[in-house]
Amino acid sequence: MSEISAIDAWEVLDSRGHPTVCVAVETAHASGRFTVPAGASTGTHEAVERRDGTARYRGRGVRSAVAAINDELAPIVVGRDVSEQRTIDEAMCAYDGTETLSEVGANAILGVSGAVAHAASNALDTPLYRYLAPDEPGRIPLPMVNVLSGGLHAEGGIEIQDFLVVPIGAETYDDALRMVWDVRQAVRDRIVKEGHRPLVADEGGFSPPMNSIDDAFVLLETGVRDAGYEPGTDLSFAIDVAATHFYDEDQDAYELESIGKSLCPTEMIDHVVEWTTRYPLVSIEDPLAEDDWEHWIQLHDKLGDTVQLLGDDLLVTDQKRLERVRETGAANAVLVKPNQTGTITGTIELIQAAHRAGFSTVVSARSGETSDTTIADLAVAFDAGQIKIGSLARSERLVKYNRLIEISRERGDEVTPFPFH
Ligand code: PGA
Ligand code: ZN
Repeated sequence: MSEISAIDAWEVLDSRGHPTVCVAVETAHASGRFTVPAGASTGTHEAVERRDGTARYRGRGVRSAVAAINDELAPIVVGRDVSEQRTIDEAMCAYDGTETLSEVGANAILGVSGAVAHAASNALDTPLYRYLAPDEPGRIPLPMVNVLSGGLHAEGGIEIQDFLVVPIGAETYDDALRMVWDVRQAVRDRIVKEGHRPLVADEGGFSPPMNSIDDAFVLLETGVRDAGYEPGTDLSFAIDVAATHFYDEDQDAYELESIGKSLCPTEMIDHVVEWTTRYPLVSIEDPLAEDDWEHWIQLHDKLGDTVQLLGDDLLVTDQKRLERVRETGAANAVLVKPNQTGTITGTIELIQAAHRAGFSTVVSARSGETSDTTIADLAVAFDAGQIKIGSLARSERLVKYNRLIEISRERGDEVTPFPFH
């Protein structure tokens, strides 16, 4: 197609204001850019991002990752054909030599990998989703949209990281966005009416004072009804518990300080099961800690496959952990984050392996985001079915929702139905 003639990389700031890596890949007639996202509630088993660890930006600078791109990755990648995504990704991973890409840095490698994909699609003058699609691109993914935030994204709030709504009754993407927007505004109105300020957390979700996890579910339910919809028919709920981040390994306990309780794993399971009986909860992400395989399996046995049991920190977009989930039955759905695995090829292979094994997939943004829209194209290209971007607020989120509007104008805006009933 065309040879990569140059690579440039530099440090920019993400949606939390933290440094991250931006990469540009040049060919004779086209170029492509990618900016790397970053998590706050990262899993222990994720690919490792490289940070400087110096006083600058309290250790979070990425000058060393930028230097690794310019000095070590550029010589490997320049001169190759820009369409050789897989070969380029494999060459960078082989050069790194570690499973978690900790030598060069997963943020450095993903930066180049993403920019190569954009340069190739620009060189062909083809939209990224069409360039990436193995065959025909898929449908527009159903969004699960953050409305209330807690955990590490809203320090000091309740422990559960995300309370989201899933517009299961929507047939088009336009309907899906409008329904979620209505609910988000209704929840905002309630928060204001109760005398609180509608301030938002890292992903744009509201984080009003709440006394308990049940308070959050009730607020969501009220919001859905206030907006004129029927909970469980028009919109259902999803949660990202992100339980690893309040699990105390020494005590083998889940520390729910907001309700003054320390729960052993079986009590935690009982709580989760109870939420599914009390509320129209259709998707549960990371309800248990990232290595608590035994209890994930127990929970899945109890819930069956009427609810989506979604592994994020459990799976970290990793083939080996996916295989273990397949063998053990620990979950039935896979969250997909490109920067957990470190390359575009790794992300694609994981989505395809998950689908072959019968799992549903949710492509996900990170809490530290940028104006990059790659995940929207990836989700369509590989028919992921669902996408999780954050709330309908803040431009680093909206740029991705809006990219899906753009794609829906080309592809039709029928949205993928929710896969669990
Ligand atoms: P993170 O949160 O980007 O902070 O890890 C997103 C998630 O846990 O799904
Ligand atoms: Zn998560």
